[in-house]
Amino acid sequence: MAQMHNQLSAAEGTWALRRLPDMDEAQFNQWQTLLEHRTGMTLTADRRSFLETNLGIRMREIGCSSYQAYYEKIVSGPDAIREWATLVDRLTVQETRFFRDADAFRLVADYVLTRPREQLRKRALEAWSVGCSTGEEPYTLAMILNECMNQLALQPLFGVTGSDISQPAIEKARLGQYSARKLLGMDEDLKARYFRPAERNTVEIVNSIRERVCFARLNVMDLGKAPMHGMNIIFCQNLLIYFRRWRRRDIVKRLAERLAPGGLLVLGQGELTDWQPPGLQRVPPEHVLAWIKRQPDEE
Ligand SMILES: C[S@@+](CC[C@H](N)C(=O)[O-])C[C@H]1O[C@@H](n2cnc3c(N)ncnc32)[C@H](O)[C@@H]1O
Repeated sequence: MAQMHNQLSAAEGTWALRRLPDMDEAQFNQWQTLLEHRTGMTLTADRRSFLETNLGIRMREIGCSSYQAYYEKIVSGPDAIREWATLVDRLTVQETRFFRDADAFRLVADYVLTRPREQLRKRALEAWSVGCSTGEEPYTLAMILNECMNQLALQPLFGVTGSDISQPAIEKARLGQYSARKLLGMDEDLKARYFRPAERNTVEIVNSIRERVCFARLNVMDLGKAPMHGMNIIFCQNLLIYFRRWRRRDIVKRLAERLAPGGLLVLGQGELTDWQPPGLQRVPPEHVLAWIKRQPDEE
């Protein structure tokens, strides 16, 4: 028995070291189609090695020896849903940081500071970070909104929702704990107000901000099912760059439907070109890609 076990371990070891065969054109197309169909992301041909590497790592982890066998596991295996969730997390780019696009956040602050004070006092301001990754963007929005409310001497009446397709990213976001390195270069006053030291060289978001932010797993391909409505601010940066032009337009239209009249939509610079979304009015500055939803009587 012990001998058999040793033989098996040796075989597994050999397998773990063995290189997977290169992916051929048909296999690449098959994976590319599946990924785009389910997530909207397009993998251009120059990202084939990215796909091969990440599929390969996952296949080694679960002892799967061919792309076809893994594909079948993903589309119809008994654990297909869970395995797909794991794979999606590996294939999405989750790079993000606090206050990533300073000009876009400045626009959000100006937008809030110039709203009628009475409105801000009476009705909670709702913001949504779409494709929020590990939470830095929605927490930044919450900090900005809090700063604005302080400046206006108003109660912090606002909520922020962060959504993403990746469950592990959402779990990290909910935890609200980050490596202290993530704060390098951030304004010292903001650091002191919104973070506190936590265990092992990490920091955590203070409760007054955490309790204003919630997270949900949501695929932007399923926006029709999203319960978000009447949002005042929708922030969607560095997600649509992975999508085809026609799909970007489709998603922007759907996001616009979720805005309250007068609401603000912010995308990443260059993520939507040569197209004016219906019902939205482009707002300056030129280097921030943002629109306000027209009031019904302005249509
Ligand atoms: C590069 S990060 C951007 C994070 C943040 N918005 C920023 O700009 O710093 C892109 C995020 O989009 C998410 N994503 C990719 N496809 C998605 C989809 N179909 N639905 C929702 N989120 C998606 C990824 O999981 C990833 O966390």
